[in-house]
Amino acid sequence: MEQSDQSTRLWGGRFSAGPSPEMVALSLSVHFDWRLAKYDLQGSRAHARVLKAAGLLDDVELDRMLTALDDLEKDVASGSFVGTEADEDVHTALERGLIERLGALGGKLRAGRSRNDQVATDLRLYLRDNVRSIVRELITLQQALLAKAEEYRDVVAPGMTHLQHAQPILFAHQLLAHVHAFARDVDRLRDWDRRAAVSPLGAGALAGSSLALDPVAVAAELGFDRPADNSIDAVSDRDYVAEFLFTAALIGVHLSRIGEEVVLWNTTEFGWVSLHDSWATGSSIMPQKKNPDIGELARGKSGRFVGNLMSLLTTLKALPLAYDRDLQEDKECTFDSVEQLLMLLPAVSGMIATMTVNTDAVSRGAGAGHALATDVAEWLVRQGIPFRDAHEISGAAVAACDERGCELYDLSAADLAAIDSRLTSDVLSVLTVDGALAARSTHGGTAPSSVLAQIDGIKASIAAQRAFIDPA
Ligand code: ARG
Repeated sequence: MEQSDQSTRLWGGRFSAGPSPEMVALSLSVHFDWRLAKYDLQGSRAHARVLKAAGLLDDVELDRMLTALDDLEKDVASGSFVGTEADEDVHTALERGLIERLGALGGKLRAGRSRNDQVATDLRLYLRDNVRSIVRELITLQQALLAKAEEYRDVVAPGMTHLQHAQPILFAHQLLAHVHAFARDVDRLRDWDRRAAVSPLGAGALAGSSLALDPVAVAAELGFDRPADNSIDAVSDRDYVAEFLFTAALIGVHLSRIGEEVVLWNTTEFGWVSLHDSWATGSSIMPQKKNPDIGELARGKSGRFVGNLMSLLTTLKALPLAYDRDLQEDKECTFDSVEQLLMLLPAVSGMIATMTVNTDAVSRGAGAGHALATDVAEWLVRQGIPFRDAHEISGAAVAACDERGCELYDLSAADLAAIDSRLTSDVLSVLTVDGALAARSTHGGTAPSSVLAQIDGIKASIAAQRAFIDPA
């Protein structure tokens, strides 16, 4: 069997034969873990300084090392230095790049460091960086929803349960409900970041190092809060990946819910929203079509976000400590969730920001489908009637309407009195959509006054979220 070239491998010493092509193909990760290159170089700079402090590099060597790392970073950024198939992974490729620039000195950087603590550090740095980009996109989306809510603040709509008319609401109230979901996602990511801010570097392969390394200094230089307290845990823990993938899956599910609503609102039957041409697609055969593909892809992609979480959890289950090569499987699912979110979020934000709400269509039928039945029942309760009876009386009014093919607000005082003597003419005061809305003025309710207060709360929440991505 043909043996592949050994030149860049980090572990040739005790082998008399090179790996089979099949082994190389299976093992190879540089085609995906190349995304970690810039973080790996960041870690390398911190490690070089620590080797100098430990007396393992002199001043001149450190200087040359840092210059070469900067140079390598530039070439990685411009694409003039790339990992190749002969490099097993990103760490191997970057050591090759360093040796190409420094000769034997390049081989000194690996002292006290293993790919096990290196890759765990790289992935944390990658995720902490990208989580900030995701939070930025989540803020943009919340703002798009908030702007629509403010633009259409007075528009009433039928609120639904079971996708049936339930009670009238402000359309803004429904848009803002989505904002709260995304605000919780941001909150989860900020909370995640606190736990992810632990540096694995210094753990070595699994047991720490006999060299005078300084994990505290390395952690600080890389922006972590502290180094890991247990070197075995440092190289084997992927909780931060699982937690991230869960949060990404939940964001995906939230996007699928707003995506589905837009798809529904955009149907001829609803006719509630019109999408901007730039944020919709056409059909190759039906010239009249304008399809809500962004909403549909938001719905569809939730499958892969959930799948990526399942994939990682399954990989982690029953893995013995410390590092196992299984852990290489943590990356593609993570990169996929990050990249898909960063593609999907701006598209959904743009679709929302540019859609027009057809207010007549939204408001039409806000009180229809007997949506004021609860108002009648609660009016009776305020007259001292037990809710159990009030529910029956209001139900009788609904039945009478069904028989006549009318709505509750079409009934006259005489009609109401004939249904039940306790339905006096005063009940007419709650049989309007505006009356029903204004009455729901509890905290978090749909009354215009409550929705205004809610908007203030959301603005304060978004300002706090900004502080996370742009610290003062
Ligand atoms: N590519 C490997 C990974 O993603 C890097 C660590 C390899 N460590 C090892 N002992 N083979 O996990």
